[in-house]
Amino acid sequence: MLPNDFPDDIKPFLAPSTGGDMGYDCLVCGARHAPDQLLYTCPACGGILLLTDKKLDRLKEKPGSFWRRLFDHRLMLNLPALKGVFTFHEFLAPNVPLSDVIYLGEGHTPVVKAPPALANLVGANFYVKMEGQNPSASFKDRGMAAALSMLNHLVRVKNLGQVIAVCASTGDTSASAALYASSLGKSVKSAVILPQGKVTPQQLSQPLGAGAAVFELPGVFDDSMKVVERLSEKYQVALLNSKNPWRVLGQESYAYEVAQRFDYSLRDKVLIVPVGNAGNITAILSGLLKFHRASVIDGLPKIVAVQSNRANPVFLYYRQPVAARSYSPVTVRPSVAQAAMIGDPVSFPRLADLSKAYEERAGVSSFFAVEVDETAIMEGMLQANRHGLSICTQGGECLAALRAALAEGLITPSETAVLDSTAHALKFMDFQNAYFEGRLAKEYGVATKPELANRPRSVDLGQAPIPGQGKTMTAAEREAFVSTAALAIAESLGLSEKA
Ligand code: F0G
Repeated sequence: MLPNDFPDDIKPFLAPSTGGDMGYDCLVCGARHAPDQLLYTCPACGGILLLTDKKLDRLKEKPGSFWRRLFDHRLMLNLPALKGVFTFHEFLAPNVPLSDVIYLGEGHTPVVKAPPALANLVGANFYVKMEGQNPSASFKDRGMAAALSMLNHLVRVKNLGQVIAVCASTGDTSASAALYASSLGKSVKSAVILPQGKVTPQQLSQPLGAGAAVFELPGVFDDSMKVVERLSEKYQVALLNSKNPWRVLGQESYAYEVAQRFDYSLRDKVLIVPVGNAGNITAILSGLLKFHRASVIDGLPKIVAVQSNRANPVFLYYRQPVAARSYSPVTVRPSVAQAAMIGDPVSFPRLADLSKAYEERAGVSSFFAVEVDETAIMEGMLQANRHGLSICTQGGECLAALRAALAEGLITPSETAVLDSTAHALKFMDFQNAYFEGRLAKEYGVATKPELANRPRSVDLGQAPIPGQGKTMTAAEREAFVSTAALAIAESLGLSEKA
């Protein structure tokens, strides 16, 4: 829609100018630091940082109905900077000028209602937000759009020259970081550090394709993360893990979009979120709280954090009585929800803080954690796929969590769950194939159900001529091949001939 065609009360607010009073807040010593620098830990005490807007209350000066109307109208505005996560500029990173925003097509992913047969199987209606439909095929693009937009801004205003951007990854952060960095040409060069053999071949191909420097290290993600932390402490680099708080701001857009998708009515909803490094769940809680404080939404949904029982430090923390909660990292074991296979989540202190704030506002039992096993995760992914929803293993983890939470009575069938399928299913197809070929049992402890497995069927062509590369068949040979193959397939499918 052309700007002039918008209603008069919306027009002046369509394209926001910069505002707010952003700063890094240290969660440990409480120090506040200026936002126009690259910080990943507090320079005063080394604590973890969150970015906050001291002028957030200015958003309350307008009624919630104003923001709802504005964000809904913005969806019709053809301004690239506001097409993605920056639709919610005022709540997200209001200090970033629109001219520095990077938009590669991220955000506004579909929210799809589970087909009735799947809802019946699970015992409740639910929706899935398809985060695999982001540019690098995972939700990480939301945070990366915010972090790289800010970096782009700093490179310009501070004349930084070429920046080396580094991250450790279970496969999706690296794919996203490499893609977004490559969009900036020479000004940002990305380097990714991956746990060898612990990212899928598809995920490994992504940063290679985007031209990043790719390093593989022995160990699991937690080991690679320590190396990246050392690099960011000792050398001039930009850190693109979710320790970078700009990433968290971008990922808040998931919460804003879910609110918008359900007409800002979240009271009876349950958001189920897979947790690895705990960046995503932190961002979702933070986004929901901001929208609630500004009355954009009038109720808060329940939040379910889900982990595999093979990588479950967050589950173990929340399952202790509130007064006795203490956090310990765990040693992870192989999990098909490999992208979330993290034993010592970097954002855990942020999560502990925000979940407390969330419970204070939304009430006790508005936030809880469940753990699921590998068999349930795989079955979640496969069952969804067999009912029209192509979801990743972490999406399968959410489906397993929905079932577990219903069984435990933590949620009821009258509530509506929204599952976060955080990445594209195709990134994790090796797990599906291993399941189908009966190879998952040993390392992952997955019990295979034969009725869920599927393999290509062979076609018995007998003595019929067969096509080959560079070989020209005669008409008779082709006819013999086609009729033999068609007959064999019809018999395999039990087809009856037309009358
Ligand atoms: N799902 C997918 C597909 C992921 O890639 C990740 C994390 C998670 C869930 C967990 O989200 O870390 O915010 O709690 N992947 C990171 C990476 C760690 O390196 O790609 P989280």
